[in-house]
Amino acid sequence: MSLNYLSSSLPFLLLITTVLHLHFTAALPLSTNSRWIVNSGGDGERVKLSCVNWVSHLDAVIAEGLSKQPVDVISKKIVDMGFNCVRLTYPLFLFTNDSVASVTVRQSLNKLGLIESIAGFQANNPAIIDLPVINAFQEVVASLDRNNVMMILDNQISKPGWCCSDFDGNGFFGDRYFDPEVWLKGLTKVATMFNNTANVVGMSLRNELRGPKQNVTIWYRYMQKGAEAVHAANPNVLVIFSGLSYDKDLSFIQTQPVSLTFSNKLVFEAHWYGFSNSEDWETGNANEVCGRVVDNIMSKSGFLLDKGYPLFISEWGVDQRGTNENDNRYLNCFTAWAADHDLDWALWTLAGSYYYRQGVVGMEEFYGVLNWDWCEPRNSSFLDKISPIQSPFQGPGLSNTRPHKIIFHPATGLCVQRQSFFQPLTLGPCTEAEGWNYTPQKILTIKGTYYCLQADGVGKKAKLGLICTDNSSKWEAISASKLHLSSKTNNGTVVCLDIDSENNIVTNSCRCLSNDNMCDPASQWFKIINSTMGVGTHQSYSRVDAILQSLEASLLG
Ligand SMILES: *[C@@H]1O[C@H](CO)[C@@H](O)[C@H](O)[C@H]1NC(C)=O
Ligand SMILES: *[C@@H]1O[C@H](CO)[C@@H](O)[C@H](O)[C@H]1NC(C)=O
Ligand SMILES: *[C@@H]1O[C@H](CO)[C@@H](O)[C@H](O)[C@H]1NC(C)=O
Ligand SMILES: *[C@@H]1O[C@H](CO)[C@@H](O)[C@H](O)[C@H]1NC(C)=O
Ligand SMILES: *[C@@H]1O[C@H](CO)[C@@H](O)[C@H](O)[C@H]1NC(C)=O
Ligand SMILES: *[C@@H]1O[C@H](CO)[C@@H](O)[C@H](O)[C@H]1NC(C)=O
Ligand SMILES: *[C@@H]1O[C@H](CO)[C@@H](O)[C@H](O)[C@H]1NC(C)=O
Repeated sequence: MSLNYLSSSLPFLLLITTVLHLHFTAALPLSTNSRWIVNSGGDGERVKLSCVNWVSHLDAVIAEGLSKQPVDVISKKIVDMGFNCVRLTYPLFLFTNDSVASVTVRQSLNKLGLIESIAGFQANNPAIIDLPVINAFQEVVASLDRNNVMMILDNQISKPGWCCSDFDGNGFFGDRYFDPEVWLKGLTKVATMFNNTANVVGMSLRNELRGPKQNVTIWYRYMQKGAEAVHAANPNVLVIFSGLSYDKDLSFIQTQPVSLTFSNKLVFEAHWYGFSNSEDWETGNANEVCGRVVDNIMSKSGFLLDKGYPLFISEWGVDQRGTNENDNRYLNCFTAWAADHDLDWALWTLAGSYYYRQGVVGMEEFYGVLNWDWCEPRNSSFLDKISPIQSPFQGPGLSNTRPHKIIFHPATGLCVQRQSFFQPLTLGPCTEAEGWNYTPQKILTIKGTYYCLQADGVGKKAKLGLICTDNSSKWEAISASKLHLSSKTNNGTVVCLDIDSENNIVTNSCRCLSNDNMCDPASQWFKIINSTMGVGTHQSYSRVDAILQSLEASLLG
């Protein structure tokens, strides 16, 4: 690119970016419309929070990774990986204790003996290293804001350090480091400081309430006060409430609603990891564990969707090396559930490594989407797998087509599609998924046609047929997980939808439905999901396909 070109096009480029920026920010702040989070454009279009947690609450009290990469490079990587939002964690004392806030980055790293981090920080973020840590936090927020990344500011803990345990003094109101009055002051300070930062769209009031002091009465008293304090200082942000027992229990909302002076800003958050159920995934039958755990989470927090509140799954994640069988099985169940309910969420975590965690210098984080040096995604196949849940399937203002179903395959992160009538059904990107109708008679027909999905026999490709009245055209979600789609071939053999080695859709004997703990049913897990999002390329069928469709229409009247 010549200098000449640059100088003549620069004003134009600037104009474009300004317009785009304005267009985006003009749609903020966010609010809630029943279970959906919506923007302030038009009638309020749904905004799906697809966040990643960025840790800034550990001993150093500095956002992790700044010794590895410049802050703007990290912000851009977040966007490149498909996230539109960060849940940025902080320790309360950063905002309530001057002797914590005023230490410079260099001093803070030095105090922990992190000589290598200082050198890396100096090289990557020279403009930040001599700022007090409170200003370093503001620089990170400013960078995310510049890059149009929305932020949820999360009060992870009071005293800087790794979170959480029952007896760390940070668990519940009245614990050693958790004075409710100090907390309220801190929340006000945070809300005020970022009142004019448009991309700070929400505040998680307190992470994972827990421990021997936890108490529902006291929960209502202080959470409501916290929400009012935040709202008074910054009426723009969503206020996000964590439940009890490490954010796994909001069941008490069933019987007693939260009472606030303002409306359309309240969101609930919940956490769900593989290890939330210890080793159950690995030692049990995956269908039975998935069914049981989903039922449990629906009764503890999922019910809030039906009560008309957004539910933000603000922590979930897996060991991305793919070597933890417990996590692998959980992940397929999780993404099926998250896609089904089209949830808002924040992945744990961004960090490929920490400056200093739990006494370990430079600790690697295998749950991190970035690798140890924060250069590359740790595992691009993990990102591929979660990409379908990074985009919304439905919600106010988003529909560009009539409601239909898509068939999601969590193990691959792909959806059932067809290239044309003559080609077998295969898996492809969910953005190009085939649209289906699922009738009360359990028949799956391709939207706008008479073609229905049929089982042809064990080990055979699933086919599309026009006579849809026999048993081979009925598809039922079976097993405890309801994630197997089962039919009967014409001689009465029960089969389940599956994939072959080329990702073609086939039918096989149903596997691992119950009891068996060793086998993994994931290749047979499919979820029929509601969508109102228009589909792309698959709608441009081949000419032959179009002729067949009109023939079929005249045949069937
Ligand atoms: C403030 O932080 C300093 C340094 O960590 C600590 O010694 C002091 O006890 C804290 N003060 C309060 C009131 O928490
Ligand atoms: C919860 O706190 C309230 C108010 O202080 C108290 O009356 C109640 O006994 C506590 N409940 C439990 C189970 O400790
Ligand atoms: C926060 O900003 C809003 C406008 O965006 C303003 O109405 C409000 O007074 C501000 N609050 C404080 C505490 O500055
Ligand atoms: C990425 O994850 C998959 C399983 O999901 C695993 O098979 C693969 O080895 C992982 N790759 C790396 C580089 O960790
Ligand atoms: C999907 O849509 C159907 C029909 O509108 C509805 O009954 C069902 O509850 C929806 N499923 C979910 C998970 O929202
Ligand atoms: C379909 O299956 C049912 C039992 O599930 C059976 O009674 C019926 O005969 C079958 N119909 C045909 C046409 O095979
Ligand atoms: C149905 O046909 C398959 C071959 O497609 C055969 O293996 C199976 O034994 C048959 N089942 C019955 C009940 O006849």
